[in-house]
Amino acid sequence: MNKLFKAVSLLAVLSLVLVACATPTTEAPKPTAAPAATSAPAATTAPQPTAVPPTATKAPLKGELSLLCTPQQVWCEGMKKEFEAKYPGVTVNFVRLSSGESLTRLRNEKANPQFDIWWGGPADSFIAAKKEGLLEPYKTAAQANLIDPKLMIDQDANPQWVGIYVGSLGFATNTKQTAIKAPTSMDDLIKPELKGQIVIAHPASSGTSYTFMCTILQTKGEAAGWEYMKKFAANVLLWTKSGAAPVDNSGKGEAAVGVVFSHDIVAGIEKGYPLALTFPAEGTGYEIGGMGIIKGAKNLELAKAWYDWALEGKTQELGKKYTAYQGLTIKGAVPPKPELLQVKLINYDFDYCGNNKKAFVDKFSNEIAAASLAK
Ligand code: G6P
Repeated sequence: MNKLFKAVSLLAVLSLVLVACATPTTEAPKPTAAPAATSAPAATTAPQPTAVPPTATKAPLKGELSLLCTPQQVWCEGMKKEFEAKYPGVTVNFVRLSSGESLTRLRNEKANPQFDIWWGGPADSFIAAKKEGLLEPYKTAAQANLIDPKLMIDQDANPQWVGIYVGSLGFATNTKQTAIKAPTSMDDLIKPELKGQIVIAHPASSGTSYTFMCTILQTKGEAAGWEYMKKFAANVLLWTKSGAAPVDNSGKGEAAVGVVFSHDIVAGIEKGYPLALTFPAEGTGYEIGGMGIIKGAKNLELAKAWYDWALEGKTQELGKKYTAYQGLTIKGAVPPKPELLQVKLINYDFDYCGNNKKAFVDKFSNEIAAASLAK
């Protein structure tokens, strides 16, 4: 399939979806135009001597930053290189772990933290980490440029996490499997014809999958939500570790439908997979990708430098170089796929999902996944 056709077919699917989603309950945060430059006020008096000589600069940053990185490997590698190019005295060592694995690792290392900063993965896990005292508060001037400061940052005066991207859940359906219609509602996923046809990550390891589960628990209510999850689990062929992996499974035709963040599906389509992207017309769940400094970070100065840098619009715009098509959180930064920000979203409650994460994951693992894996 040539590139143009792929792009057109994606747009066609998106426009179909967008027609179905004409009245959003909550719109994805929209990028706003960069503030116009204003000229400096004219000086009216003679310049005053300043205390610091204008030539004084801070010593260049040096050392090793230990980064816990949750988004896709290729983006983690890219950001390491970009940061090292900006700060040649710094080496970034990173490990890529899914959200739930990251949380477990931070919990186990609490007495002797090995990471300085955690970058990426749905904010629910950062809220859960804050609750367990795993994050270091950090207030910085760069947070003033967030598109939606009520939603995209911890509301404490000294915040413990901040949003660095946004993404919505979608369905990736293999277009060669013509017997199966691409789902357009969450209820389509529990229909008998999808038995053994769905691939999704496990909510214990993956933030993507936890976003899906918490979307269901919120929109249906907990009692009906857990009933739904039982039926859903019966239709799941495979639970992967990482959230984006089901794009490969459905892309290769190993299963008909993957449940994944929509920007990962777009990246899969660009890679050449025969996938259609659809959304639940009633509204879909979404993530705010988080970032937080680790409590007891051994390289705090470097962690703060990364944090400030990740909140620059220009840094966020680098994502598309590494096929990371998430929406952005900084005013004026140009999102790589603006059409993905037009999807109908639910009013996702990050505090509810973050504060209940451990309990919900345990319940799922003990009562549902165990039975599902045993089938
Ligand atoms: C992918 C997505 C990110 C998401 C991450 C979560 O990399 O592109 O937007 O935050 O998955 O990873 P996890 O493996 O925890 O689902």
